[in-house]
Amino acid sequence: MNKKTQCYRIGVLGLGEGRSILSAALLSDRWEVACICDLDAELCRQRQQEFSIAEYTTSYAEMLQREDIDVIGIFTPDPMHTEHILMAFSAGKHVVCTKPLVDNLERGCELLAAQRGSGKQLLVGNSTRFFHTLQRQRRDFERGANGQLVSCEAHYNGDKRKGSAGARGKNGEVNWLYSGLGHPVDLVYWYLGEIEEVYGYGLLSQAGARLGSKVPDCFHFVLKSKAGVLGRVTGMYGTPLAHPKASPTTECMLRGNDGISTATFPRFDYFTAFDGQEPTCETHVDSSGYYFRWGGSKYHAGEFQNYLEHFAYSLDSDSPPEPSLVNGLYVVAILEAMERSLNGGIPVRVDQILKDRGLEEIIDDRMTCDELCQVTT
Ligand SMILES: NC(=O)c1ccc[n+]([C@@H]2O[C@H](COP(=O)([O-])OP(=O)(O)OC[C@H]3O[C@@H](n4cnc5c(N)ncnc54)[C@H](O)[C@@H]3O)[C@@H](O)[C@H]2O)c1
Repeated sequence: MNKKTQCYRIGVLGLGEGRSILSAALLSDRWEVACICDLDAELCRQRQQEFSIAEYTTSYAEMLQREDIDVIGIFTPDPMHTEHILMAFSAGKHVVCTKPLVDNLERGCELLAAQRGSGKQLLVGNSTRFFHTLQRQRRDFERGANGQLVSCEAHYNGDKRKGSAGARGKNGEVNWLYSGLGHPVDLVYWYLGEIEEVYGYGLLSQAGARLGSKVPDCFHFVLKSKAGVLGRVTGMYGTPLAHPKASPTTECMLRGNDGISTATFPRFDYFTAFDGQEPTCETHVDSSGYYFRWGGSKYHAGEFQNYLEHFAYSLDSDSPPEPSLVNGLYVVAILEAMERSLNGGIPVRVDQILKDRGLEEIIDDRMTCDELCQVTT
């Protein structure tokens, strides 16, 4: 078979949110589902029936032993991602890991070393980047419609007052800084590149405290890129959601010297105000069936479809996908800097976090220099 059109075989671990990747793989001509795995045998049988999948197992180790699996899709709870990624690399598998890649950098060096040792690729499933309006916004940005960036402002809010889908959410065990704010932070990183410093405030909502959480679940942060571009992120997880027309769940606004664009989720609204053009407001409702396959917006399988197709192309050429392991670790470093800022009440430099974690090697000074040149010329 021609390597360029290879069909990749995926084994999916964790079948809650893993439902979306199953739908994506089954609809793609680049992917096949080889096996599914969850500790919950009843859930395995439910997904097996829903998607007519031949085999399931409740043992991850057993799934890893299968030679007919090229890629492992990891959709287990956040604190398990590190261990499950390391196991996949050690079994010689490529990895798709849902967001957040990890919820601290304690074993960041180990992850980098394991990837190098295996020679395998990892894609971080930062799904928001792959939504229709966000992709539309990216294309405009890349063709220069915004001009030089001045600011990127992003938010993702969710009403988690009764917890999220999994048992951990209902017990107040989810750290929303990583699991929620990670979305807008990834967007700001996508546009601003390396971040110099972050500063912000957070609090634990009454609802979060009632669930048993001990860490904040409501956040406002400001960021500054190494090139001097401004960023702002918000994540509110302990309050009701605003009317969707007043404020979408997710929004990313890019302000440049030549124009502004705003992408929203889950509505398909995309707004632009570019110099020399009439302001536009596009609504792409015809994409709704592709993105939200089971109604509502809890599952957004279309984004997973988009990132899975992207990963197949990366694997064809054995080149890192975006976001890669390094990109994912960098986003977690920004989040750790935010956590340190909250705890100390001070601005925190991201490079310091990377140094403290022994991850200086992922600081890309060359990129920083290029960005600085762009800003000062
Ligand atoms: N936008 C997105 O991409 C998005 C949306 C929601 C959730 N997520 C992420 O997906 C992950 C899972 O979230 P969820 O809501 O489905 O949680 P969940 O708790 O509902 O599901 C996790 C599943 O993993 C299984 N599991 C745990 N340990 C296992 C093991 N060792 N072997 C096999 N199965 C195991 C559990 O039995 C459970 O069914 C989280 O990291 C979450 O942050 C991503």
